[in-house]
Amino acid sequence: MASIRQLDPIVASRIAAGEVVERPSSVLRELLDNAIDAKATKISVYIEQGGIKSLTVIDNGSGMSADDLELACRSHATSKVRTLEDLFNLSTLGFRGEALSSISACSRLTISSNGNRITVDNGVQSPVVPGGIERGTSVSMEDLFENIPARKQFLKRPQSEATDCRKTFIEKALGFPEIELLFFSEGELLLHYEASDRKTRALRIMSADKSFMPAKVLQMSYKGENTDLLAISSDPSCYRRDRGQIKILVNNRIIDSYQLVQAVTSAYSAALPGGAFPYFYLFIDDNPALVDFNVHPAKRECKIRNQSQIYGAITTMIRQALLKKEYETDVREPLRQEPLFDPQPMQSEHVSDIPSSPYRAAPKPESRPASRPATASKPFDPSWFENARTILAKAETKRSPSEVSTTKIIPDYRYIGQVFNTFLVVELKDRLMFIDQHALHERLLYDEIRAQKDVQRLMVPYPFEVERSVDDYLQENSVIYSDYGIELTRKEPLLWEMASMPATCRKNEQEIVSYIQTQTGDIESVQKGLFAIIACHAAIKAGDELDAVTAAQLVRKSFELDRMVCPHGREFTFSVSKEYLYKEVGRIV
Ligand SMILES: Nc1ncnc2c1ncn2[C@@H]1O[C@H](COP(=O)(O)OP(=O)(O)OP(=O)(O)O)[C@@H](O)[C@H]1O
Ligand SMILES: [Mg+2]
Repeated sequence: MASIRQLDPIVASRIAAGEVVERPSSVLRELLDNAIDAKATKISVYIEQGGIKSLTVIDNGSGMSADDLELACRSHATSKVRTLEDLFNLSTLGFRGEALSSISACSRLTISSNGNRITVDNGVQSPVVPGGIERGTSVSMEDLFENIPARKQFLKRPQSEATDCRKTFIEKALGFPEIELLFFSEGELLLHYEASDRKTRALRIMSADKSFMPAKVLQMSYKGENTDLLAISSDPSCYRRDRGQIKILVNNRIIDSYQLVQAVTSAYSAALPGGAFPYFYLFIDDNPALVDFNVHPAKRECKIRNQSQIYGAITTMIRQALLKKEYETDVREPLRQEPLFDPQPMQSEHVSDIPSSPYRAAPKPESRPASRPATASKPFDPSWFENARTILAKAETKRSPSEVSTTKIIPDYRYIGQVFNTFLVVELKDRLMFIDQHALHERLLYDEIRAQKDVQRLMVPYPFEVERSVDDYLQENSVIYSDYGIELTRKEPLLWEMASMPATCRKNEQEIVSYIQTQTGDIESVQKGLFAIIACHAAIKAGDELDAVTAAQLVRKSFELDRMVCPHGREFTFSVSKEYLYKEVGRIV
């Protein structure tokens, strides 16, 4: 007797749906794609309980006839592709005719369009009836995975699902700035993007990041035979510790591409300190015939036939733009901060003024734009000076001069000055030495943070979710963090709270939590990475002008180190011999 049987169509459709529908944000992505393909100029999104209870997308696009409504939720039903050739020359976001069919297989879906309405309840379709919105389309999904408990248990808490939906919404907004977009959660309007252009929309979205505080913004472009590039980025004084704000869009669609992100980071490597990444939104408009999105169910990946040319174009475009330094300054126009779902429980202390001498920076020629909120702290972070003063002063009292001389013999040197607001220059015997001020200070902070255990209890513990692997890891290894004053408590499966952290890292709780959320490695490298992040965040940046006293202090401290390497292991000095300099001008040594 044969043991192979054809699956019941409803079971088959639910299995297929798993490819497309993973969570509310994947439903939202598909419904937004449909509204955009219908040429909507205004789209509103409403979610309840993170989209698990309900998720509605209303657009003012072309809408559907009653006949089309009848077909829309059937498998492989699409108006966008007719022949195989169409598939290789796509101008629409949809092409499989699978999204609505998949969503309706695992929820209750109601679509109303141009005066007609249809409901498909977990794969069971009712007839089209008159009613609903008169122009455009409203698609409403309710009770996702209610009939598939095995899938439902993999959903995150509503607040996290809401955050994912918001992220998906923002990514679409970035790709389609000409569309007005509204995002409501639990009836409250959280985001409203008016119709605009790429640059305005990109800056609006970038500036929602709490750490985004560039002196200037940079717009770069490139025109090629098959490809146009446009990038909006921060100037190098403003950067992040992760690649989270490098966004690549191919034909208006956000994609995950390791290679293209790599092109961006390698072109920026000379302009940023080690382990730092730019804010960089790149719009690639490629010939549709050269791009295939039919490789990933979520359309997050694509095959690009002219990828190597694009790689080259990206690096050339960035290097030239950084060299020319033709920054645009219009970031000074007021940028609205977006409300965030992320919990911000800690009442961080606001350091309002630069502390007085000796650890003081000379005033910056480029002062902070007046319209920015005073609490924004990059690129010129007054709290750094307070941190530096506390840390350096502590180091002074801890070690007596005799102690220093027994641990390390300080060579005779003469501090000459600071150049390019980046290097401290020192004359040392018959050499001229250049010290990277950012890397040096990062190293000093790193050593001090490791040595001290000042712990600050958070007024309200900071909650965060983790993946299963990190949950398991933390249950066994939370001592890695508690050793350094970071107290973590498991509240429920996959949900943790941070109750305390080293005092020197106040205001950086989000960054620390983001790090914890990704770590499952060996103890030593996790601890090293953690403190490299903290120290680097607080350290002087390349480009910060220093007063002579601070600079001289830093130089002296550099000579007390065993090895002049930053926490990432990179050497931070470089020297030129007297002999070389003499030779260059034709002198005999
Ligand atoms: N908001 C909308 N406005 C107008 N027509 C729509 C809308 N949503 C869906 N449709 C119609 O329903 C069809 C089926 O939609 P569905 O999302 O399932 O497939 P698709 O968009 O063609 O392809 P894909 O599965 O890749 O998304 C679309 O081809 C389109 O004709
Ligand atoms: Mg679609």
